[in-house]
Amino acid sequence: MDSPFGLLAELTYRCPLACPYCSNPLNLADYQDELTTDEWLRVLTEAEDLGVLQCHLSGGEPLLRRDLVELVAHAHALGLYTNLITSALGFSRRKAEELRAAGLDHVQISIQADEPAVSDRIAGITSFRRKIEAMGVVKELGWPLTMNVVLHRHNIDRVADVLALAEEVGADRVELANTQYYGWAWRNRAALLPSRAQLEAAEAVARAAGERLRDRMDIIYVIPDYYSRYPKPCMGGWASRQLTVTPNGDVLPCPAAQSLPLPRASVREDSLERIWAESPVMTAFRGTDWMPEPCRSCPRREVDFGGCRCQAFLLTGDAARTDPVCHLSPDHDLVAKAVEAANAGSRDDDPPLVPRPHRPGPPPVARSR
Ligand code: SF4
Ligand code: FES
Repeated sequence: MDSPFGLLAELTYRCPLACPYCSNPLNLADYQDELTTDEWLRVLTEAEDLGVLQCHLSGGEPLLRRDLVELVAHAHALGLYTNLITSALGFSRRKAEELRAAGLDHVQISIQADEPAVSDRIAGITSFRRKIEAMGVVKELGWPLTMNVVLHRHNIDRVADVLALAEEVGADRVELANTQYYGWAWRNRAALLPSRAQLEAAEAVARAAGERLRDRMDIIYVIPDYYSRYPKPCMGGWASRQLTVTPNGDVLPCPAAQSLPLPRASVREDSLERIWAESPVMTAFRGTDWMPEPCRSCPRREVDFGGCRCQAFLLTGDAARTDPVCHLSPDHDLVAKAVEAANAGSRDDDPPLVPRPHRPGPPPVARSR
């Protein structure tokens, strides 16, 4: 068993946006009892003790936590590399300066499209202009900037314009991430899944831009696994290199695993070290012993680890099956049918996108319990 390398600290699921591709859990009411400031400080300390080097502060919208600056300062003092993953709503100049002084290392800002009306429609709130302003502040204060755009059927044709915008704002890195179908995105899958023609065109644009901008900007194009022959090596293997702590203190090997029927493990009841080493949620699919055929005897079993457990569960109802994205999976037809539907008929037949309900809520953060 290795030490975890990265901690995804999901500080809150409250969020001012209503993105239809949100992968956070559907049962948000179960996460209202957020960890207190002292509990998060302890989690960060225990994560560093465990060997974590990078801390991704995410949500929901992490800027809704009033203690964000204190948490960043603590992570920085521990020597962790800190990355803020934000919609940029609430990223005022004053807050940015406080975060800079606290030692924040990197900022990733999501945007929904290059064009204000399209971006605001997908986000479910007027936000484009504030995001662009925030990107300006990030560059001005000297942070490296990642611009993140989740791609789907409604914006993937705009990749060239998205990359032009990334150049304009001076992004150091742009992440073109095709939608992963978990949480709310799973409910919207038929409306979000792009066609093969859309994907091929976007990939060609991203590849050409990657060549042209090689010295100025990293372009990461995350391919949609529904169109791959093999699944993604999700999280680099279950409970292998990454861990997630949810707003209420549950510890998971990945951000989507709360949907699996596994016993809960919480930082409120146990240490991070013991949870990582011994809890059933971490050990359930660690390594290769749990694998069924065809993974068990497949030469790729330590390349992709049988794919994604959460996707196997969503598609088949059994988290221990081979990820149906794999063309060798006995359940592959479940993915093939979704892909077939995304390539049939005209765009006029597309189902509507259902926005995620807003979860702004009042900040319930307490210092301690
Ligand atoms: Fe990966 Fe399993 Fe498919 Fe082999 S059979 S490629 S290990 S998912
Ligand atoms: Fe949970 Fe892939 S998202 S294992």
